[in-house]
Amino acid sequence: MTNLLINIDHVATLRNARRETFPDPVRAALECELGGADGIVFHLREDRRHINDRDVRLLKEKVRTKLDFELSVAPDVVGVCCEIVPDLATLVPERREEITTEGGLDAVANRTHLAPVIERLYDAGVTEVALFLDPEADQIDAAAELGANVIELHTGDYANAHTDDARHEILSKLAAAAERAHENNLAVHAGHGLDYSNYELFRESVLHVAEVSIGFAVIARAIFTGLRSAVADIRKLVKQH
Ligand code: PXP
Repeated sequence: MTNLLINIDHVATLRNARRETFPDPVRAALECELGGADGIVFHLREDRRHINDRDVRLLKEKVRTKLDFELSVAPDVVGVCCEIVPDLATLVPERREEITTEGGLDAVANRTHLAPVIERLYDAGVTEVALFLDPEADQIDAAAELGANVIELHTGDYANAHTDDARHEILSKLAAAAERAHENNLAVHAGHGLDYSNYELFRESVLHVAEVSIGFAVIARAIFTGLRSAVADIRKLVKQH
């Protein structure tokens, strides 16, 4: 059964918009767990625009489910990740001017930057290291060659597709990439833009997905329903098989 991990970055975005101490993303993480999340995801960005170092340390202390630390290859952030040793480290590309992560890593072009970081994470004791990738065969193969044991498929293009044809085209790419990763003994995770209306078709179309990471849609719904209930609602979709 697919695990549901909830990304709580947007709670920190709201807190930081007023330079306040609330809403607290750590409290949000505990609410997500009470709503049935199998794990919590956060992205410590180089510019600390949402999650900060205090949040990271408290999340490590308080989260009882799986902890997924999203990060770029920036040495300072890799250092924090190696200190706290999350259950899973997911390497993502990062550009300062982007609103959110805009696409997968180029694992083919960036082998020499990624290889030492992956090794550093394993050496620190992180047992699962994921690369966030677009659904391309050469990217999946590069992840396997680099020694990552997980890939997270970027589902943003699926979420942004506006026609049935476009949706089905990207779903077949995602399905082929998941199959290729599975054949390469890589665990398959997926995320970006998944929500209450597009999840079902994704679930039916792409096999081997062990974990999904969902943030924005759940935090947005929580404004009206409360976080526990928003998590419980997406959980029903994720756990339906
Ligand atoms: N996976 C990765 C690698 C991401 O960067 C994000 C966005 O922070 C997500 C999943 C979750 O995306 P969303 O917030 O659109 O659900």
